[in-house]
Amino acid sequence: MIVSIQVAPSILNADFAQLRLEVEKVETADWLHLDIMDGHFVPNLSFGPAVAEALRAHSKLPFEAHLMVENQENYIAPFAEAGVSRVIVHPEATVHLHRLVQSIKDSGLEAGVALNPATPLNSLDLVLPDLSIVLLMTVNPGFGGQRLIRGVLPKIEKLRKVVAEADLNCRIGVDGGINGETAPEVIAAGADFLVAGTYLFKNKQDPAQIIANLKRLGNEDED
Ligand code: DX5
Ligand code: ZN
Repeated sequence: MIVSIQVAPSILNADFAQLRLEVEKVETADWLHLDIMDGHFVPNLSFGPAVAEALRAHSKLPFEAHLMVENQENYIAPFAEAGVSRVIVHPEATVHLHRLVQSIKDSGLEAGVALNPATPLNSLDLVLPDLSIVLLMTVNPGFGGQRLIRGVLPKIEKLRKVVAEADLNCRIGVDGGINGETAPEVIAAGADFLVAGTYLFKNKQDPAQIIANLKRLGNEDED
C-alpha cells in the first residue's frame, strides 16, 4: 500500500542562535512544527508568536503551532496574525474543546487536536470531523529528545480504523521520539504525519536526506 507521509520538523531542538538557517535546511518537509510551551501546562518554556512571525518570511512551508499552554484561546489570534496555517490544541488544557476548535476554524485556520499519551481517543468525540490532524503524543510533552512510548502504538491503530470507517480527511500525526527506528513502527500502525525534532536537527546527516528517507517509508509495501 502506498501512503503519503508528511514530515513536520519541530524546531524545539534546533540551534536557536541561527533559527533562520535551521528552517532553511528543512524546506523539503511539509509543515514547520512550532512547539509553544508556557511553563504551566508543560514544565518548560519555548517561544511565542513573535518567533513564528520572524520566521514566516524565510520559509515556504505552512506553519503549525502546537499549543502546550494554559488559556489556549488567548493565543489563536496572535498566531493567526503571525501567519500560521494551523493551530493544534490539547483537550487536557481546556474544558471547552469544541468551542476552541470552532474558534480556530472561525479564524480561518486549520484545527488540530493533540492527545497526551494517557488521554483516550474518546476525547475527540464531537470535534473529529472538524480536524485536519490528530496528533498522538508519543512522549509526554515538554521536551525534545525523549524516547517514544510504544504503548501508544495500539492507539494509532485504533484511530486509523475510526478515521477510515468515517472516511475522514484527517491526518494521523505522531509527535515525540520519532527516528529511523521508530518511524516504520508508527507508520505500520497507521500514522501518516511525523513530527521530528532531535532526529532532524541533532544529526550529522543532512536533514533533507532524512526527510526524503522518512517520506519514502510510505512507499514500502507492508502487506
Ligand atoms: C514535545 C514536543 C515535540 C518534540 C519533538 O513536547 O511537542 O514536538 O519536542 O521532538 P523530538 O523529535 O526530539 O522528540
Ligand atoms: Zn510538538
